[in-house]
Amino acid sequence: MRPENNCIVIFGASGDLTRRKLIPALFHLFKNNQLPEKFAVLGVSRTELDDDTFREAMRRNLIEKEGAHGQTLEAFCTHLYYQSIDTADRDDYAKLLPRLDALHHEYDTRGNTVYYLSTPPSLYGIIPECLAAHGLNDEERGWKRLIVEKPFGYDSQTAKDLDRTIHHYFHEHQIYRIDHYLGKETVQNLLVLRFSNGLFEPLWNRNYIDYIEITAAETIGVEDRGGYYDGSGAVRDMFQNHLLQILAMVAMEPPALIDADSMRDEVAKVLHSLHPLDNEHLKTHLVLAQYGKGRVGDKEVLPYRQEKGVAADSTTETYMALRLQIDNWRWSGVPFYIRTGKYLPMRFTEVVIHFKTTPHPVFNQHAPENKLIIRIQPDEGIAMRFGLKRPGAGFDAEEVSMDFRYADLAANNVLTAYERLLLDAMKGDATLFARTDAVHACWKFVEPILAYKANRGQLYNYDPGSWGPTEADKMIARSGRVWRQPK
Ligand code: BG6
Repeated sequence: MRPENNCIVIFGASGDLTRRKLIPALFHLFKNNQLPEKFAVLGVSRTELDDDTFREAMRRNLIEKEGAHGQTLEAFCTHLYYQSIDTADRDDYAKLLPRLDALHHEYDTRGNTVYYLSTPPSLYGIIPECLAAHGLNDEERGWKRLIVEKPFGYDSQTAKDLDRTIHHYFHEHQIYRIDHYLGKETVQNLLVLRFSNGLFEPLWNRNYIDYIEITAAETIGVEDRGGYYDGSGAVRDMFQNHLLQILAMVAMEPPALIDADSMRDEVAKVLHSLHPLDNEHLKTHLVLAQYGKGRVGDKEVLPYRQEKGVAADSTTETYMALRLQIDNWRWSGVPFYIRTGKYLPMRFTEVVIHFKTTPHPVFNQHAPENKLIIRIQPDEGIAMRFGLKRPGAGFDAEEVSMDFRYADLAANNVLTAYERLLLDAMKGDATLFARTDAVHACWKFVEPILAYKANRGQLYNYDPGSWGPTEADKMIARSGRVWRQPK
């Protein structure tokens, strides 16, 4: 079912995210007939542009980056509009009123509006206040939804403050905190895999699972985002949000219903059950590191401290690895190893479930491990590894694999994360958006890591193009395990 007619207002329209992700996502939805019958996109930011220049810039980008062309592209571009305002100046929002009135009228939207905050985070509290000052949050005439990009706060306190500010003007049901990892098809598939297969769910607990690894490895560095990244680091940029959300999907209990509240109740429950971190634990089970000078493939790369926007004596981590535990009935005693880093040798995000070995190796000394590898990206799919008899004499077992690849599905119309999430927000489905309690549970959990960083805890160095610092290998090796490195 297509969403109701609406107007999408993108704050930060001249920025990178709008060009790289939001407009292409809307274009693909349009191409696949998934947008409402009538819709308008109003780009808003400080840069002085008119409708035509904005439209032309988006059009050119779609041609160059998405290979778009023809009538569909031209038809899509007629839906794009632009209004320049000083987004920090409440009075300037008056300019939005006649624009929106005209668009609502022309596109028969009944006032339904999605506001997308894709601005610097310092404006996340200001924009809702300014909208409210002009009655633009009012749901009397059509629904009003606010999508807030990450980062949602900088720590527990700032996240709470931001929530308090936004809640003055928008109700929780109107707020959609986006975490684009939740929009990834394979992350959602984790739930279907777990809860609709009698084969896996009975084994999904401390009795059968030895440990779980979650890795998000990137081959890029901080690129041109040094200014933002240096104040953030891997802990805030990837771990506090994306990786803890994946962890929640892996570890949560089955929801009572597949709806936003039931799902998000379970996510919050598991995040509240994370075993609190203390300094002793962090000293042995947390590894923070920063990339130095080196090569990735055949490319010479700058050390992190020489990247544009990064302080010359920066102690920001571009890699982190952590062992954590969940204190609940299902997971008691099962370690979770989580790692993420920039400039690693391969780009992949995966969850590996390592099952316990058989109690007594009948056939050979080292029975192969049973594992389930859930590949979130790229090459989305699931692989099961187990032992079978090596052909020939004897009964030796060797590890074999049964693979499923998403690309093999006949009807393979997988939506990208932003397509899926924009569509859900237009439909009013908040299931895949982070609820306030989950965001706060994540911040609360990472707070000791932030304090450890602030107190200049140990920071290691690693070479770009390597698998990170050897300390991360030593950390996992202390319990006799190794990180899985895909080939
Ligand atoms: C973003 C981070 O949220 O996620 C980036 O800010 C990171 O630093 C990106 O590169 C990774 O997303 P994806 O979808 O490419 O895995």
